[in-house]
Formats: sequence, structure tokens, C-alpha cells
Amino acid sequence: MANVTVIGAQWGDEGKGKIVDWLAERADIVVRFQGGHNAGHTLVVDGKVYKLSLLPSGIVRGTLSVIGNGVVLDPWHFRDEVAKLAAQDVAITPDNLQIAETCPLILPFHRDLDGLREDASGAGKIGTTRRGIGPAYEDKVGRRAIRVCDLAHLDDLGPQLDRLLAHHDALRAGFGEAPIDRARLLADLAEIADVILPFASPVWRTLGEARAQGKRILFEGAQGVLLDVDHGTYPFVTSSNTVAGTAASGSGLGPSAPGFVLGIVKAYTTRVGSGPFPTELEDETGTRLGERGHEFGTVTGRKRRCGWFDAVLVRQSAAVSGITGIALTKLDVLDGFAELRICTGYDLDGRHYDYLPPHPNDQARVKPIYETIEGWSESTAGARSWADLPAQAIKYIRRVEELIRCPVALVSTSPERDDTILVRDPFQD
Ligand code: GDP
Ligand code: IMO
Ligand code: MG
Repeated sequence: MANVTVIGAQWGDEGKGKIVDWLAERADIVVRFQGGHNAGHTLVVDGKVYKLSLLPSGIVRGTLSVIGNGVVLDPWHFRDEVAKLAAQDVAITPDNLQIAETCPLILPFHRDLDGLREDASGAGKIGTTRRGIGPAYEDKVGRRAIRVCDLAHLDDLGPQLDRLLAHHDALRAGFGEAPIDRARLLADLAEIADVILPFASPVWRTLGEARAQGKRILFEGAQGVLLDVDHGTYPFVTSSNTVAGTAASGSGLGPSAPGFVLGIVKAYTTRVGSGPFPTELEDETGTRLGERGHEFGTVTGRKRRCGWFDAVLVRQSAAVSGITGIALTKLDVLDGFAELRICTGYDLDGRHYDYLPPHPNDQARVKPIYETIEGWSESTAGARSWADLPAQAIKYIRRVEELIRCPVALVSTSPERDDTILVRDPFQD
């Protein structure tokens, strides 16, 4: 297969950025196809740390990078992220980055609304990144969005702005906020247009041509399947589809675009934000996982909730997303645990479930059924070949494969780019 699609198979932060950066060496183009700057992808190359939120992780290697139409783009954040990377000697120019002309924009009042709603929601809040992702997607499907191509037509925006502002002013009034300052918005857009438009491109054509020439396209998912707006733990989800099929609609290639679907799977489970988490550990073991794994959000700095590996959830993610193989990450975080637990099913009021029931109340009440596996005392940190792994760690990996019904293609053993074990090359499959 010429293409590979990387997606998170849990609640995000599985290590997608590291794996995309590693695979980008073999790819001709790296494409983001959904989400926005709610993502936080950390790459470590020879000790140097790069944090990306909106830009495709391939950009750090200089691989041609594309922001597809399925992404919601905050142009001011874009400008700042480009400047931050430039300060780390990563040059970003229209020669190595293209943005789809049809990307909807995240505007300042989207961010305001996201925060206002979160503050007003009390216990029921989603725990969003407050970056305006949800409100921007709402405007996209509501056909009110301002898109990248509109930046070249600001004088013709009248009727579209009328509808957009009428909608938002009503919402803002409900929160006691002032109406949007139309003149200021237009002035801000005119200013940022000069930054964005040089990157704007018909990326569907770039990608179609690349594909016709047999080039390798690597799609970089953000978030994870359990945050998918259809398949995730609704309503505690993000506002886009995170499953692999979105690589096609979010970039402008046909349904066979995704190719090999590589699900990124953390060797345990984490979640940031609110919502059900059956294997969550609110005890010393959870704290130990969080400390060993440095589980703090890249975007918001929030502490990530931690728990045992949940094979039920990953099996479901693999099924709904058509995962071909997985990259198992952060195996090293499990070093030194005498015993490890894996969730193999749930009990809800005496009924056995081998999948996550859809209703949030049931999801919150399911009791995980565990099997216990002996741990290993040796270090796996930095292992680069199968032979470097202790026998018990291999047993753990084999059991994970069996339970989720998916083979392991890669194993990651540290944040560093090259501390990666290749079992099966997704580009050669
Ligand atoms: P993403 O959102 O899926 O790209 O993941 P994040 O970058 O938000 O979070 C993953 C974190 O784990 C980052 O800090 C990575 O540097 C780190 N990481 C990735 N793979 C490994 C690994 O195999 N072992 C360890 N210890 N850390 C890893
Ligand atoms: P990466 O790509 C982890 C979570 C938020 C919140 C929910 C909705 O780094 O894996 P949003 O701002 O998207 O409306 O928030 O989704 N969330 C993530 N959690 N990793 C991410 O991205 C996330 N992006 C959003 O915490 O629960
Ligand atoms: Mg992240």
C-alpha cells in the first residue's frame, strides 16, 4: 500500500506525533485531515523537543506537509506556531506546507463561545481545550463558516457575515456578551489574510497528482477514536470524526486513500477532560503511571487521568476504524510493575458486555473485568529491537494483540524518534 493513516485508538495522546515523525522519513507527503489546534503532538529528536498543535508532524523533517479541508484553522494560532517552529530552526514556507482553500476558519468569537459554555456548564462540562473547535465545526455544518478562500474575497463577504454574526450575536446575548465588532473582525481578517493566502492551495489536486505518481502519503490523525463525534463517548467527545475514513473526506482523495490504517495504542490508558473512563485508577498506581509517563496535556497542561489497558475499548476502536495494525507506545512506562492488569470485558448490573454500551450513564457505571499478567523488572526504555525486550514484555504485547484482534506493527519505547521497534513496515504492506 502506498499510503498510511495514523489514528489514535484511545482518547488521544497515544504518541501519534512521535510515530508520524518517525514514519515521515518514508513518506513523500504528510497530511492533517481533521481537528485543529486542540491537538498536541510532542516530538523528541536528539533531545530537542518540538510541540505541534496544528501543523502536520512531518514538517519537522521538512517533508511536504498539507493541512486538509477537514481541519478547522485558527489563522492567528497558525502564525504563532509557524513563528515558534522557526525559532527552533524549522522553516515553514509555501514550498513545504499547503493549506486547503476550503478550510473553515476558527475565529476569536468561536474561542470565546467555547470558554463561555464550559464556564456555564458546571458538572456537565465537556472539558474542552477551549480553542473554539466545536463552535467552528458547528458553523461549518451550519453553512455559515468563513473559509480560507474567503480571505481573498473579503469585500464580498457581506451576506455570509450577516448570517454568521446574527447567529453568534444571539448566542452572545444569552451569555450577556457584547455583539461582535464587525469592522474590527474584517480588519483583523484583512491583516491575517496576507499570512495565510500564500499557503492556500487546491490540495486535493496536489494529493491526486502525488498519488498518480505513486508517491507515499501519510495521513496524521488527531485525537482518538473514543473522541470521535459518532463513535466516541458522546457527548464527551471532540467535534470531528477521528476515524481513519475521514482521511478521504478531509483531504479530497477517494475512499481508498487511507491505505494501511495504523492505530496508535498506549500500553495503558489515559484521558484528558471529562467523561467515562472504566479502567481509571484514582489511587497510587494511577499516580505512578502518570508520573512515569509524564501524563500532562501538551495543549492545556492539564493532568491526564490514567488507568490500566482496556482491551475492550481498543478492540472496538480497531473494528469501527478498520485498523490494519497497531503501534504500541509507552511500553517502557510499565517497566517495574510487579503485576499488570488488562480489562477484557465489563459487568453492568450482572450483564456481561464485550463492548462499551452507548449510553453515558451505562458507560460511567460499567465495572471492568480484569485479567492479571506478571510484569517485568528489566528496563525496556530505549529498546530498538524485539530481542531487547524481556520475555514478560513480549507476553504482554502478544496478549494485547490477541485481545484486540489486531497485530502489532511498531513498538515505541521512549519519546526519542529512533527508540522504535519495527515489526512490520506499514508502507510495505
Ligand atoms: P499525541 O497527541 O498522540 O501525538 O501524543 P502526545 O505527544 O500528546 O503525548 C505522548 C507523550 O508521550 C509525548 O510527550 C511523547 O514525547 C511521549 N512518548 C511517545 N512515545 C513514547 C514512548 O514510547 N515512551 C515514553 N516514555 N514516552 C513516549
Ligand atoms: P491529540 O491529537 C487528548 C479532548 C478534550 C475534551 C474533548 C473535546 O493530542 O491526541 P475539544 O477542544 O476538541 O472540543 O475538546 O476532546 N481532546 C483531546 N484529548 N488529546 C487530544 O488531541 C485532544 N483534543 C481534544 O480534552 O475532552
Ligand atoms: Mg496529544
